[in-house]
Amino acid sequence: MTLPSLGLYGLGTMGSALALNILDNGYGLHVANRTTSRVPEFVGEAGALAENLTGHESLVAMARAMPAPRAIILMVPAGGAVDSGIAELLEVLGDGDVIIDAGNADFNDTRRRTDEVESSGVAFLGMGVSGGEEGARHGPSIMAGGTESVWAGLREVIEAISAKFEGAPCADRFGPDGAGHFVKTVHNGIEYADMELIAEVYGLMRYGLGKAPAEIGKVFGAWNDGPLKSYLVEISAEVLGAVDRISGGPAVDAIVDRAGQKGTGRWTVIEALRMGQSASAIEAAVAARSWSAEKEVREAGAEILGFGREPLELDAADLEAALLAGRIVAYAQGFRILDAASDEFGWSLDFARIAEVWRAGCIIRSALLDGIAGAFRGDLPMGQLIFAPAFAGMLREAVPAMRRVVAASVAAGHPVPALAAALAFLESMALARGTTDLIQGQRDFFGRHGFDRVDGGAGRHGPWWD
Ligand SMILES: NC(=O)c1ccc[n+]([C@@H]2O[C@H](COP(=O)([O-])OP(=O)(O)OC[C@H]3O[C@@H](n4cnc5c(N)ncnc54)[C@H](OP(=O)(O)O)[C@@H]3O)[C@@H](O)[C@H]2O)c1
Repeated sequence: MTLPSLGLYGLGTMGSALALNILDNGYGLHVANRTTSRVPEFVGEAGALAENLTGHESLVAMARAMPAPRAIILMVPAGGAVDSGIAELLEVLGDGDVIIDAGNADFNDTRRRTDEVESSGVAFLGMGVSGGEEGARHGPSIMAGGTESVWAGLREVIEAISAKFEGAPCADRFGPDGAGHFVKTVHNGIEYADMELIAEVYGLMRYGLGKAPAEIGKVFGAWNDGPLKSYLVEISAEVLGAVDRISGGPAVDAIVDRAGQKGTGRWTVIEALRMGQSASAIEAAVAARSWSAEKEVREAGAEILGFGREPLELDAADLEAALLAGRIVAYAQGFRILDAASDEFGWSLDFARIAEVWRAGCIIRSALLDGIAGAFRGDLPMGQLIFAPAFAGMLREAVPAMRRVVAASVAAGHPVPALAAALAFLESMALARGTTDLIQGQRDFFGRHGFDRVDGGAGRHGPWWD
């Protein structure tokens, strides 16, 4: 199959790194950027790789200059910038050309754009890219959505630039239109949960056990040799061990504890709830970021409410087990959302392949993912990752420790929203009879909604209506 000529628009953090990656793999590349002065600057940065690089004045000038068939990657912020780029490109491109949106698009937009772009004869690929700048430069994890034919035409290049796990490319097409961006969105939702769980455990060690950041960094470093081995635990160890250049104290102490939650984490929760799912660990992580953003309110709260935090006595082994159980829940809830979306949109997502594509290059890569891929290839009771024999075994072992951690934290006034949410999910899914009998009774009482009887029969009413 003839490879199209390749173009990339948007030489920001991700676009520049991805462009160098493409060049490094021996492909020629055309580039353009909104702020034109960035183009010669980037050509300079490319050094010897610039031999195969052609810079252009604008997106349209680039598209016009590229030999057909053309594949143009947009690496710009999600939203209006993508729509404007597409509108400009549709003036120039034609049959056989492809527009690739490699930003963090809302998959609903990708579905709409696929229809709009493909109705004009140009193909569209929605491509989620994970791994930050380092991943984009040396091999990201890539989650694509589009037709099989557009994937077939680009597969060679995309696999070449992707991360490799034991030689296998961490890139695949997961379905049509928005499937790739949806998988990337859920990836980011899991990332939110995992980061929050790690931060909560850091908080317990710091403010409950009184450990210094560098000491906690060493604990994370040691955990990174065990079942918690992962990119996020590894970089947490590095961040906690780092020293601030200005104060000479721990680098984390120079950072304001405030984070936003504008995009993919929130979309994961919105989509989960819309599909009748709950991803409680991810929701908790999004909530924790929202509360963190209210820095001034929290400062007032410390004065006005001032509940205070008590010291903790907790084993490092319990904390490690609690974090492991929380991480399993984050993945499990992510896959439950993917399952619901696969049904709703008819995507037939291959969960084992998704886990495999996440094994290297991406932010949520961890030692668990190979086992997760294996679990989805094996006999998974009721399709639930937490019931896979290997994971059920880990959870049976970890949950008593997780209970001790959550109970001690709550009793001593340390907020652990994601750990508590993950534990509540596990406890709820391990109870054959919960407490929703009363909710159904209440609903029937005030609204004559009816309920199912344990001895058979639907839509029955309680004695309060006799
Ligand atoms: N950073 C990450 O770790 C990461 C990871 C995965 C995915 N992503 C996604 O990748 C995309 C790019 O992110 P980034 O981190 O590379 O962003 P960035 O460093 O801020 O760069 C943004 C690029 O988009 C261009 N741009 C901004 N607004 C534009 C507009 N209205 N029209 C045309 N071009 C515009 C900028 O051009 P100027 O030079 O003219 O400003 C710049 O080239 C986003 O969708 C992001 O969510 C980022």
